[in-house]
Amino acid sequence: MCVHLKLDTVDSTNTYAKTHYRELPDGSVVSARIQTAGRGRVGRKWHSGSGLDITASFIFQNLGQPFLAGAITGVAAIGLLEETVPELAPFLKWPNDIYVRHFKLSGMLSEAVWEQGKMQCIICGIGMNVNSGEDLLFSAGQPAVSLYSLTGRHFDVDFLIERLAKIVNRCYIICQQYPQDVFSQWREYNRLIGHRIEVVDPSGKSMCGVFRDVSPDGAMIFETEDGVRRLFNCGDVKINAQSLIF
Ligand code: BTN
Repeated sequence: MCVHLKLDTVDSTNTYAKTHYRELPDGSVVSARIQTAGRGRVGRKWHSGSGLDITASFIFQNLGQPFLAGAITGVAAIGLLEETVPELAPFLKWPNDIYVRHFKLSGMLSEAVWEQGKMQCIICGIGMNVNSGEDLLFSAGQPAVSLYSLTGRHFDVDFLIERLAKIVNRCYIICQQYPQDVFSQWREYNRLIGHRIEVVDPSGKSMCGVFRDVSPDGAMIFETEDGVRRLFNCGDVKINAQSLIF
């Protein structure tokens, strides 16, 4: 039976889950009202409003492929958004962001925990801007939005975290038997497939090309004038309003 551990204040739910995963059953989630040192991808900080936004980390101990942690969490989060704010048409931006038009609504950070040369689990943390106002919204590199800034409505964050935990749990169970089903949904929500994008590597070098597809191991198949390459990790995928004519 998985557990939902609700913390008031923590440095980072990902850091907490990485330190305490042994005490928590597989599939558990750690959420917090306040994060004092939230972390994002490529060493960035993640800011969220106290008690205003979703900050939660899921523990996955039984996945065939590490990228599936982000795929499960991303597919579940899109499911949550589709039932809560169906008018928004959110989509996944590879590897693990959720966008509404060209604005970032949510980001995920997947981290593997290794001990004695063996991967013990993957922690996937999600931050979603829910009730933060424009003054609090911050996202390096891309403009950010919250559900509140998009709709003018406030949402019950505790209810949304509970729902998200239920949907992630269901998706995790499916994934253990039918990983290809979760992969297909993840691929379908990656709506930039087929579009021109800009990829910036961690050193800041930029490449323009076409996002051809995702492969079953989670890589992005990216075509530039120099040829086709498979990307597992990159700093950023940049989009602008023109990349988004679906
Ligand atoms: C990104 O967009 O760069 C990823 C952001 C991930 C933020 C979440 S909030 C909950 C969990 N705890 C953290 O410190 N980070 C993740």
